[in-house]
Amino acid sequence: MPAVITGTGVAVPPNEVTNHDLARIMDTSDDWIRSRSGVVSRRFVDPGTGASDLATEAGNAALDSAGIGHDDVDVLITATMTPDLTNPGIAGLVQNKMGLGHIPVFDIRQQCSGFLYALDLADALIGSGKAKTVAVIGAEVHAGYLPWGDTWDIVLGKVDREPTPAEYARNTEHRAWSVLFGDGAGAMVLQRSDEPDAGFLSSSLHTDGEHFELIIVPGLGSLQRPFASEAQLQAGLHLPRMDGGGLYRQAVRLMPDSVRLALDASGLDLEDIEVVVAHQANERILAGVRKQLGVHEQLVPSNIDHWGNTTAGTLPILFHELWQEGRIAPGSVTCFTAFGAGAHWGAMLYRHP
Ligand SMILES: CC(C)(COP(=O)(O)OP(=O)(O)OC[C@H]1O[C@@H](n2cnc3c(N)ncnc32)[C@H](O)[C@@H]1OP(=O)(O)O)[C@@H](O)C(=O)NCCC(=O)NCCS
Repeated sequence: MPAVITGTGVAVPPNEVTNHDLARIMDTSDDWIRSRSGVVSRRFVDPGTGASDLATEAGNAALDSAGIGHDDVDVLITATMTPDLTNPGIAGLVQNKMGLGHIPVFDIRQQCSGFLYALDLADALIGSGKAKTVAVIGAEVHAGYLPWGDTWDIVLGKVDREPTPAEYARNTEHRAWSVLFGDGAGAMVLQRSDEPDAGFLSSSLHTDGEHFELIIVPGLGSLQRPFASEAQLQAGLHLPRMDGGGLYRQAVRLMPDSVRLALDASGLDLEDIEVVVAHQANERILAGVRKQLGVHEQLVPSNIDHWGNTTAGTLPILFHELWQEGRIAPGSVTCFTAFGAGAHWGAMLYRHP
C-alpha cells in the first residue's frame, strides 16, 4: 500500500541573525561565511522555546494543509538532535502539545539524516498496513548549543556594546561550526493511497559507525561519571566538535552514491527526477553533490542562505517551499537525500500522486 505526502507545514522562529551580526561577536565576516557555506542569515528561538514547540507548530500546520484532524493521526515520528531535555525524547511532548490521541510515537536520533530515516519508517508502517496516517516531524533548536553567553544580546540587537576580549576569544574559538546552524522545523503528513504508481519507490539508507567522530558532542553521556559535571562544562565537552573537511569529503561522495543506489533499486534514471531535496548542510557540499551527479543547479535547489543548517528540519522545510512554488507536480519524482552525524546517510525516491 503506497504512502503519499498529503500535507506539509513549517515553523521558523522570529529572530533573524545575519552574518554581519555574528561578525560583531567573533572574528568572522559575511564574506567568509557566505563563500564557505552559503549561509547569509539564520533564525533562532527565544529562550524557553524548545524543539517540541517548533515541532508542534509545524505538525499542526501540516495537519491543516492535509485537511485532517488530530484524531486521524495513527502514529507520530519526530526527529531531532536537540531535544527539550536530554531524556526523554520530544515525541511524547509533541503528542501531548498537538493534542493527538494515545497513539504510538517514535523518537529518531539520526541527526541530519533523521528526517530521512523517519520518512522510511513512516512508509514502512503504512506499507505494512500498521498505520493509515503518520505525522513525521523534523525539528531543531540549535540555539542552546551556541556558546555565545551574554553576547547573545549583542547578536539579537538587544544591547549596544562591544564584546569583552574574553567573550570575543571564546566565540572565535567555536566559529568554524557555530556559524553554520539555525533553528527550524518542518513536518509532513503521510497517508495510505490507492494510487498504485504513487508513493515511495525505493530507499537506500546506510550507517558507518567508523565515522562516528566526524561531528560529536564528546561530553554529557553515560561514558562520563558523573554524567554531567562542572569539569566537563569547563572543558567545553558539552559543545560540538566537528571535522569539517572530513564531513565534506564523505558527504559529497556518499549522498550521490545513495542516490544512484536508490535509482538502481527503482529502475529509474537520473533524468526521471524532477528535483533532489538534499540536506542543507553547506552550499559547497550541495555544489559537490551536483558535480558528482553531473546535474545542473536547479535540480538540487538550496535554501541554506536564509535558514542555515536546521539539521532534521532541512528536508521537510525545503520540500514544503518547493511544493508551494509548484515544483512538486502531480506524477513528478522527488529524490530525498541526506548525510550527517553518526555517520548516517541515504536517499529515497518518491512519486507524488
Ligand atoms: C566548516 C567549513 C565551512 C570550513 O571551511 P574550510 O574552507 O574547510 O575552512 P578550514 O576549516 O580549512 O579553515 C580555514 C581557515 O578559516 C578559519 N575559520 C574557520 N571558521 C571561520 C569563520 N567562521 N570565520 C572566519 N574564519 C574561519 C580557520 O580558523 C582557518 O584559519 P587558518 O587557516 O588561519 O587556520 C567546511 O569544512 C565545511 O563546510 N565542512 C562541512 C561542515 C558541515 O557540513 N557541517 C554540518 C554537519 S552535517
